[in-house]
Amino acid sequence: MRLPVDTTPTLLPKPAAAPNGRGAGFRPWSEWSTRARLVAVVLFIDALAALISCGVIVLNARNAVRVETRASLATVESLVADTIRLSDTASPDTLLQTLDLRFKVLRHVRVAVLEPDGDQVGKPMPPHKSEREAPRWFADLIMPPIERHTLPIVVNGQTLGTAQITTQPMDEIDEIWGYARALSMTTLAINAAMLIALYLALGRILAPLQRLGDGLTQLEHHDYTARLDTPGARELAVIAERFNKVAEALSEVRGANGRLNRQLLTAQDDERRRTALELHDEFGPCLFALEANAASIARIASGPAEPSREKLAARAAEISAIVGQVQTVNRELLNRLRPHGLGQAPLATCLDLLLRGFGQRHPGTTFVGKFDGLARGYGDLVDLTVFRCVQESATNAVRHGGATRVEAEAMEADGNLRVTIRDDGSGIPPEHRTGLGLSGMRERVEALDGTFALDNDGPGAIVRITIPVPPERGDENNNAPSA
Ligand SMILES: Nc1ncnc2c1ncn2[C@@H]1O[C@H](COP(=O)(O)OP(=O)(O)O)[C@@H](O)[C@H]1O
Ligand SMILES: [Mg+2]
Repeated sequence: MRLPVDTTPTLLPKPAAAPNGRGAGFRPWSEWSTRARLVAVVLFIDALAALISCGVIVLNARNAVRVETRASLATVESLVADTIRLSDTASPDTLLQTLDLRFKVLRHVRVAVLEPDGDQVGKPMPPHKSEREAPRWFADLIMPPIERHTLPIVVNGQTLGTAQITTQPMDEIDEIWGYARALSMTTLAINAAMLIALYLALGRILAPLQRLGDGLTQLEHHDYTARLDTPGARELAVIAERFNKVAEALSEVRGANGRLNRQLLTAQDDERRRTALELHDEFGPCLFALEANAASIARIASGPAEPSREKLAARAAEISAIVGQVQTVNRELLNRLRPHGLGQAPLATCLDLLLRGFGQRHPGTTFVGKFDGLARGYGDLVDLTVFRCVQESATNAVRHGGATRVEAEAMEADGNLRVTIRDDGSGIPPEHRTGLGLSGMRERVEALDGTFALDNDGPGAIVRITIPVPPERGDENNNAPSA
């Protein structure tokens, strides 16, 4: 039953075509190779990891610089205070100079000694310079707020000036920049090497896919000699192995197809030649004998004397015998061209008749048929195949095996037609040839998706045939077992 097809136009909007003509879901990487995609994914993960690492480094460094400069500030502050306190015996003039000189080279802080009017004692420190100066953006990211503490310099109750202590985190930032740069360079070099290695390795791993594609193209062009080398990767090795099996199977099928085609072409010719030969050999002498008898009757009738009744009766009997012979040959010939009754009478009846004919022609051999439970027919092709196989197997049993008993059996079981022909002859010789008879049977059966097997069983040979019962039989209305 066919389902009704809904032909009403749908109201769902159709996806609009993108201006580039590749549909709305166009992705630039949709045309990338697998290799490029995998490398891109690794590159993306790398970039993400680098970004996260940078974030972590900056956060940690910012904290570390703040703690470090604060600690330095506290230490230097108490150091300056102690120095001032212990210097009350020194001359006030030289004290400021001494203080300025003493605290010139400190890390993380700068100490400026100022006179009461605000002028700096000594030269102001040159702006910070270092070997590996961190770039501005890096310093801005890490720089903590600058802190400044001012201490009055009081000696013997007299204020001589002030000491201004300012945090100076740049040396610490420079140091971190040095570490960060070295780390980044190393990581970058390792990653670049890793990506190159990955690219090369992917090339090697994915090369079999390219070869698989080429092989499939070869198959597509009917070149079934295509075979793939087994690649190292297990999954690809399985694919290559399957490919080779498929190619082999295709090549075998093509071989069989070619053989079948050739046989098809020659079979018709063979059949005509055999028919011609039989007509010549069988009918020729018979017709000649009939003609001779007719001539003899004419001679007897046209003679001067009264025709001899005995002679006429003898000629008539001879003619009758020759006609009988012609009829037998005629029946066999017709039966070979088209098995008698096949398609009209039930298959089991045709097979019974076939074996009966064998029995008449070979009186020294008993032919037994068991064809109970068969449908009336299984379609022209299946019926003819079963008939030809029983005919050929029985002929072989008599001709090659010298059998005294041939048993043929056919039944339907599990959706299959099972046919066996067993004989008690000499059996198949170990190195027998495969003639047209055996190959013909096999090809007929295999063309119907069936199986054909020839074995020795006990004293004689056995042929086993299985043919799937076609879903639509030749005669569906008459499945009753034949009588
Ligand atoms: N039932 C059998 N008993 C003994 N030998 C057999 C039998 N069937 C086939 N053979 C062997 O198989 C060979 C090939 O048989 P077949 O293909 O039918 O060719 P042919 O046209 O000679 O009959 C025979 O020559 C014979 O040696
Ligand atoms: Mg044969």
